[in-house]
Amino acid sequence: MAKVTIQKLQEMKQNGEKISYVTAYDFGQATLVEKAGIEMILVGDSMSMTMLGNDSTVPLTTDQMVHHIKAVVKGAPSPMIVGDLVFGSYNEGPEQAIRSANRLLKEGGCDVVKLEGCMPETVRRMVEAGIGVQGHIGLTPQTAGLLGGFKLQGKNMDAARKIVEQAKALEEAGAFSLVVECVPEELGRAITEAVKIPVIGIGAGRYCDGQVLVYHDLLGMFDRFRPKFVKKYADIGDQIVKALQDYKQEVRDVKFPSDEYVFGGLSKDDIGKIY
Ligand code: KIV
Repeated sequence: MAKVTIQKLQEMKQNGEKISYVTAYDFGQATLVEKAGIEMILVGDSMSMTMLGNDSTVPLTTDQMVHHIKAVVKGAPSPMIVGDLVFGSYNEGPEQAIRSANRLLKEGGCDVVKLEGCMPETVRRMVEAGIGVQGHIGLTPQTAGLLGGFKLQGKNMDAARKIVEQAKALEEAGAFSLVVECVPEELGRAITEAVKIPVIGIGAGRYCDGQVLVYHDLLGMFDRFRPKFVKKYADIGDQIVKALQDYKQEVRDVKFPSDEYVFGGLSKDDIGKIY
């Protein structure tokens, strides 16, 4: 697959070709996403929970994000790599947002960045500074506390209208794409039709221009909680536990290492002469 660009995503929207997008946080995961031919990788701040065991995305630092982006970039040359701006690294205003994004782009090596919420002035200044920005509206996990928790957003007409307005404001500010999280399907459709830029849904129904899921969720590797919108495509977590249990049992029974995994070359008699 040729390197995925903003132009390519725009063409896909125009041609009605759906965009696939998934998170990845390290080299090994990125190589598998590359092999699968998925168009976009989000080095998401969800790593705070899936990789680092925190209870929320809030504690993640820009240093940690840069560290993980570097590994993902090495493993996946073709997909567009999106670096997630972490909580507290852009909410002071455009200068701070540009500084933080520059770190993800220059030190990490990602292609573009994503930020949560509707901050059109910040996005406008970032785009003017030459930074590709993906917006993220609807449920925004970094500020879920202010939205009543991890809950469906845009449930009534006023709330739905506000989210459509946010989408238009971010497009107007120069965002190249939007992630829309956890809204009714018809609102996902309305947002997708209201803007010309690609809209990627997560729990936003079938009519978005593409879908994004968290790597650990879709592969069955994270069982602390599972939102309704997550489809588990595999049970890799269970397979890993089974393999580790088999290994443990074989070590205990001295079945591993068997002949094929050991080095010959000296007899027991030869080696006995050393002592
Ligand atoms: O960090 C993340 O994984 C995300 C997705 C939920 C879109 O922002």
